[in-house]
Amino acid sequence: MQVRPLNQSNRKWAMNLIKEVWISTKIVSKGKVHDTNELPGIIALHKNHRIGLLIYNIIGDECEIVSLNSLKENIGIGTALLKEIESFSTLKSCKRLWVITTNDNTDALRFYQRKSFKIVAIHLNALEQSRRLKPEIPFLGSNDIEMRDEIELEKTL
Ligand SMILES: CC(C)(COP(=O)(O)OP(=O)(O)OC[C@H]1O[C@@H](n2cnc3c(N)ncnc32)[C@H](O)[C@@H]1OP(=O)(O)O)[C@@H](O)C(=O)NCCC(=O)NCCS
Repeated sequence: MQVRPLNQSNRKWAMNLIKEVWISTKIVSKGKVHDTNELPGIIALHKNHRIGLLIYNIIGDECEIVSLNSLKENIGIGTALLKEIESFSTLKSCKRLWVITTNDNTDALRFYQRKSFKIVAIHLNALEQSRRLKPEIPFLGSNDIEMRDEIELEKTL
C-alpha cells in the first residue's frame, strides 16, 4: 500500500467519496463548516486503486483530521493514513492532532483510541448546531444510534 498527497487528478474521486459518505462536501465540526474541496488530503493506493482518503486542516500548531475513510476496513488503510498525517503534521511543527467524531460512531471511537488518541471533550448536543449549518445531517447514525454529540479526541505530538 502507498500513501500520497491528494492532487488535482484525484480531487474529483475524493469529493465523490466524501459526498457518498457524508452527504455533501461540507463537513461540520465544532460549529465550523469545512469545505473539503478546499482542504488538503492524503490518499491510500493499492496497485493503482484508490482505497482510502484523509482530509486535514492545519491551523497554527494544530492539525484537525476532518475526514478519514477506508474503502476496505481492517486491512490497515486507516492506520497507514493516520501514520502519514502524524508524520506530516509533526514535520509541520504541529503540537496536536485532533478529530471530531459523533457519539454513534463506535468504530471510529475504537479506532482512534486504539491509536493512542484520548477523548478530551464531549460536546453535548453539538449536532443541533451542526444541523443548522448542514441540515442534511441525519438524525440516526451508525448502529441505529441517534446522532447527538460530538466527541473530540486528540493525540499530542
Ligand atoms: C474508522 C476507519 C477509518 C478505520 O479504518 P480501517 O482501514 O478499517 O483501519 P485499520 O484497518 O487500519 O485498523 C482497524 C483494525 O484492523 C486491524 N488491522 C490492520 N491491518 C490488518 C491486517 N492486515 N490484518 C488484520 N487486521 C488488521 C488494525 O490493527 C485495527 O485493529 P485494532 O484496533 O484491534 O488494532 C474506518 O472504519 C472507516 O472508514 N469508517 C467510516 C468513516 C469514519 O467513521 N471515519 C472516522 C471519522 S472521521
